[in-house]
Amino acid sequence: MPIPQEAASEMAADPARCGAFKLSSFGQLVGPSRFSAGPLQEVMRQPGAHVLAQGVPPMASLPIVGVKITLADGTVIEIDKAESLTSQRYAPFGWSSLRSWLVEHVRQQHAPPAEDWDVGITSGSMYALDAVLRLLVDPGDAVLCEEYTFLATKDLLHCLRADIVPLAMDADGLLPSAIEAACEARIRAGRPPPKLLYTIPVGQNPTGSRLHPDRYAEIYALAQRFGFVILEDDAYACMQHRLMIADYEGVPP
Ligand SMILES: Cc1ncc(COP(=O)(O)O)c(C=O)c1O
Repeated sequence: MPIPQEAASEMAADPARCGAFKLSSFGQLVGPSRFSAGPLQEVMRQPGAHVLAQGVPPMASLPIVGVKITLADGTVIEIDKAESLTSQRYAPFGWSSLRSWLVEHVRQQHAPPAEDWDVGITSGSMYALDAVLRLLVDPGDAVLCEEYTFLATKDLLHCLRADIVPLAMDADGLLPSAIEAACEARIRAGRPPPKLLYTIPVGQNPTGSRLHPDRYAEIYALAQRFGFVILEDDAYACMQHRLMIADYEGVPP
């Protein structure tokens, strides 16, 4: 049975009950980066200076001067000398050409509605999942996920001592009704609703299912109502399913 609007507003006003967005203790502790390259850059501009403190070796010492990748379909991708060198000696927060490409890709494909979004580059998606989950999940926090899910993420959630709440699925992926039932059951039991939903909507691992387009909006509405964060693991949409934004007609970003 749906929670009446009044009760939902009451929960929204009480973070202890509604699970309103909150960083984990670790997330609150670490804060933003305080890195500043300013003073070192002054020194680096001097002719002949090699500042090892920043891990910036002389260009001439870099071992890779070109990269050529051949795809299974015969496409050849070549990275020239200049790009190969900057890819080995990039500034903090990632190789700038790659970052700009990714920012544009996300803008085109997802058109994030917020003003202050950004892209972070990690070594593999597991590292991104690890970083995000550590920033959000405290021991005992309830985390919703598909009843069959990616083993390594489940393992990570176990390591973080999360309370994993498995959700029923069908051929069209996760069932919004299962999310609603799980949240309501926790509230009825006097426990905070789940902190987060971890989901793999496309090429779901291991079932291979794809979330029905109508369910995106339903799940988003539930996240707003119960105050949980959605962590979407979209590992396969572009790569294996060749999905681009046009395929998501009517689906919220
Ligand atoms: C859904 C999903 N997410 C994340 C990963 C981990 O990806 P990576 O190898 O880039 O860390 C995998 C790998 O199988 C996966 O299937």
